[in-house]
Amino acid sequence: MTKTSLGADGQRVKDDLKALALFTAGGGGCDRTLFSSAYNESRSWVADRMRDAGLEVRRDAAGNLIGTLEGEDPTGPALMMGSHTDTVRGGGHFDGVVGVLGAIETVRLIRESGQKPRHTIQVVDFLGEEANDHGLTCLGSRSMTGELTAADLDRPNTEGVTLGEQCARAGLNPSGMIGGGWLTREKASAYLELHIEQGPLLELREVEIGVVTAIAGIERLVARFLGQADHAGTMPMLDRRDALAAAAETVLAVRQLGCDAQGAGVATTSRVTALPGSPNVVPSAARLEAEMRSTDPVWLDTARSRLAQEVADKATALGVGVELDWVHDNQAQPLDDSLQTAIIGAAESLGRSWIPIPSGATHDAVHVARRIPAAMIFVPSVDGRSHCPEEMTKLSDITTGIDVLAQTVLALDCR
Ligand code: HGY
Ligand code: MN
Ligand code: MN
Repeated sequence: MTKTSLGADGQRVKDDLKALALFTAGGGGCDRTLFSSAYNESRSWVADRMRDAGLEVRRDAAGNLIGTLEGEDPTGPALMMGSHTDTVRGGGHFDGVVGVLGAIETVRLIRESGQKPRHTIQVVDFLGEEANDHGLTCLGSRSMTGELTAADLDRPNTEGVTLGEQCARAGLNPSGMIGGGWLTREKASAYLELHIEQGPLLELREVEIGVVTAIAGIERLVARFLGQADHAGTMPMLDRRDALAAAAETVLAVRQLGCDAQGAGVATTSRVTALPGSPNVVPSAARLEAEMRSTDPVWLDTARSRLAQEVADKATALGVGVELDWVHDNQAQPLDDSLQTAIIGAAESLGRSWIPIPSGATHDAVHVARRIPAAMIFVPSVDGRSHCPEEMTKLSDITTGIDVLAQTVLALDCR
């Protein structure tokens, strides 16, 4: 394909966004969580959209939806694009969706240009990118890249059902989901993901395109505090072993860790539960979930040991025992330099403003990048909001992102 610029059809994209938004479990925002009926139904709709765009559609063992448009050289490695269409509970209508629908629109544009690409083009809707009830993100891309393990499938949810059992109930073949992973450089030579920024930078800087330099690593923590139940009215304050007080001090220590990082990292406590939960009993047990993220692996390492020490000290001072379970979600991942250069070239050829930008959010690209060269294109989020009903990206910014994605694919196809 000789390079010509392809312009996304805004009305078509808008219609797709509106149609996909209808698949939700209801409540505020968008609720399309892993294995929910809303999610299952939405994927049949996505598969139909892929077929309408001329893609051959298949599902791999992990339930990833893979649309393929054969190129002039069908034996060579494909150019892959994609993202995810599952959401957090009460999420927005753009996270992940913009990347899948943008990739489908890119294929339509290529076919409408009447030119057959030299490379095979692939569009992937990865299964279950969001953190699920088993504490794991990026289920489909981990499987495709051989990172999903039997231990992952053994992870129980709060009802004690394992991830593997959930996958089997959803019609997947858990044993086929683990192992080597089918994605290799022979299968695909590059992966591009269009995604909303989910932060405030592009809007603040009034820039149209973010060229993502790296994706943050994530360390997750479950802390279990063991104190002593006592009468809330009679036990003197200094003789108490209050598990919830220790958890509360930890919430503030997690926040302080992130604030002290001055942008090098972030830290968040997402949930605290306490027992017995009676108004007149000193809490005997508490459970806290937190996470830390950084694109700097050294910061992440030191933050983890610093926090572990602080939590232990605070618990000891309150006479409370504490057990820490760390889960390494993903390591920080730089993205491919030459693909970033191709994205920059595409943005500049279209007269679009761009800046390099790290991603504090994780994406399927973090796993794909371990197997093949991968890069990401960000478009602005209104007020930097995401993972909430207020999540919004302007249609004009989405079509700009698709134009840059399409232009980058054209450039890579000429390589
Ligand atoms: O957690 C994340 O960063 C992504 O949205 N799953
Ligand atoms: Mn996402
Ligand atoms: Mn997300």
